[in-house]
Amino acid sequence: MKRILSGVQSSGEPHIGNYLGAMRNHIAMQDTHECFIFIADLHALTTVRDPKKMKQDSTEIALDYLALGLDPNKTVFFRQSDIAEHSELAWILSTITPFGLLERAHAYKDAVAKGMKDPTTGLFTYPVLMAADILMYKPDLVPVGKDQKQHVEITRDIADKFNNIYGETFPLPDEHTPDDVAYILGTDGENKMSKSYGNVINFFAEESRLKKQIMGIKTDSTPMEEPKDPDSCAVYKIYSYFANDSEKKTMADKYKGGDFGYGDAKKILLQKVLDYFNPYRQKRIELQANLEYINQVLKEGADKAKKEAQKTMDEVRKKTGLGQI
Ligand code: ADP
Ligand code: TRP
Repeated sequence: MKRILSGVQSSGEPHIGNYLGAMRNHIAMQDTHECFIFIADLHALTTVRDPKKMKQDSTEIALDYLALGLDPNKTVFFRQSDIAEHSELAWILSTITPFGLLERAHAYKDAVAKGMKDPTTGLFTYPVLMAADILMYKPDLVPVGKDQKQHVEITRDIADKFNNIYGETFPLPDEHTPDDVAYILGTDGENKMSKSYGNVINFFAEESRLKKQIMGIKTDSTPMEEPKDPDSCAVYKIYSYFANDSEKKTMADKYKGGDFGYGDAKKILLQKVLDYFNPYRQKRIELQANLEYINQVLKEGADKAKKEAQKTMDEVRKKTGLGQI
């Protein structure tokens, strides 16, 4: 069985883009792969400085993933900061990482281009910590969104450098970005769904808020009675992410037939989203009432991850000449 590893940084309340583009994949892979998924709180520390929020965010992502079906008996699910070895390996890798490689990294370059004042060293070396996260567990595949592909490429460069200096240690991991769901359209009908555009559908939101988000999807002003083009409508596109072929055809025929308004389409979409996510929404409510269980899951996950991390670090220390003889 191939091993996969991915980190998730809290990005606030999850939306359909996060779900279809990342979370659902992570969870589906637990049946076909040996999975390691972790909450990247050390990475989050580059932007979050409120300790309460830091803790709360970790709990929320754990709730999201467990509610959506992550099974801690199949997936090693843990918090990055529980495994101190990540920081240790990041340091060791930083000593062989060319400065120029990090200067070319998008995340840093974009932050500076957007006028970030006094960028921190942590933001600059973010890809090195990510390389440590990945190489520690020697995965075959790293499922990531398009925006993170470059970080996996940097990871390969760093691994290659380490192997050249110290001998074959780290297999070079591949990134994995499924193409068909790599771009989920937002409710503005123009941009990729993203919290930074305010065009999201938060599937765990209370029903009234969810309804508002869906009823607010931007459509053109074709009058109710006239035929409409489903393929150029955001409501139809979003519906098609969840509907089966026959449901899609029924909806498309209604668009083309006229006497079917965008409001009607939105009501059908709302019901679809509610039906689809209802079991997960219920599960999340149950889990929320049992936070002790969440702690327990993350603790057991950390115990399993730690064993792997220690194995790698023993090897790395030996190869680099660090630690006891
Ligand atoms: P946001 O854009 O809302 O800030 P993030 O950048 O935090 O979302 O994304 C978290 C994960 O969800 C990433 O793996 C990203 O590729 C995926 N993702 C986010 N939005 C979309 C989208 N609209 N379509 C596909 N995948 C998405
Ligand atoms: N940087 C990733 C993000 O923002 C999260 C992450 C941290 C990660 N370490 C990782 C993803 C290792 C994959 C592998 O989404």
